[in-house]
Amino acid sequence: VSVSTYDDIAEWYRENYGVEPVSEDPFFPAVQALVGDLAGQRVCDLACGEGRVSRHLAAHGARVVGVDLSGSPLAMAAERERSEPRGVAYLRGDAQGLAAVRDAVFDGVVCNMSLMDIAELTPTVRAVARVLRPAGWFVFSILHPCYHTRPSGQITTADGTTFRTVSEYFTEGFWRSDERPGPPGRVGAYHRTLATYVNTLTDAGLTVERLSEPRLTSGPRVRLAVWSEVPAVLIARCRRTGVPPAG
Ligand SMILES: C[S@@+](CC[C@H](N)C(=O)[O-])C[C@H]1O[C@@H](n2cnc3c(N)ncnc32)[C@H](O)[C@@H]1O
Repeated sequence: VSVSTYDDIAEWYRENYGVEPVSEDPFFPAVQALVGDLAGQRVCDLACGEGRVSRHLAAHGARVVGVDLSGSPLAMAAERERSEPRGVAYLRGDAQGLAAVRDAVFDGVVCNMSLMDIAELTPTVRAVARVLRPAGWFVFSILHPCYHTRPSGQITTADGTTFRTVSEYFTEGFWRSDERPGPPGRVGAYHRTLATYVNTLTDAGLTVERLSEPRLTSGPRVRLAVWSEVPAVLIARCRRTGVPPAG
């Protein structure tokens, strides 16, 4: 079992990124829009961290199981569930297999800002397809792979125009950069091309039905003005249309 370094930064992540309620996260309304109606749905919050998304889904009527590999954020999630119960069950497990979860038990899986933190995409999306009922849905958000790579950044020209700068798009795999203030600077991330994401999902029996690239206008939680020019985050809704390959 690989060890996630989110154990080391759980407190920092909660303070800086774990916006509670998650509906105040500038990117989350676009995730919510692709998730849609949750009443009575059995939903897995995959790589749930300290449970801000799990709690939101449960508050909107879903029966939620939150799964994460890291014990520290999960302990925070469980503690919060004890003090303010929402009926969320938390489970420690590896998204790259979901060994403790039976087949076809969920109507939907949500994976918010986490696929780029998970080392292996193929076993992860196969596991998602396996635990979904036929025609079940999968909504995920990721750092937009076209605008986040190891050397990505931004420059502002003399006339005040800000440009996103990107290189090494074709270099897949783990990267970490001291230039980055967020999780890619602390724990790193795994880069994959857009083609790899879509093709790996399709091969696992998950068909992409909708994409969303939220445009952020300035506000208190918007860190960089450049995100009104290019998208920081990519969100997708997929449907289980095929039988996932074994393994
Ligand atoms: C950026 S946090 C996002 C947490 C939460 N979804 C949210 O929106 O606040 C990424 C999470 O992915 C988890 N993670 C990384 N690798 C994992 C794996 N193989 N299986 C399950 N969770 C994993 C980390 O422990 C961390 O909690």
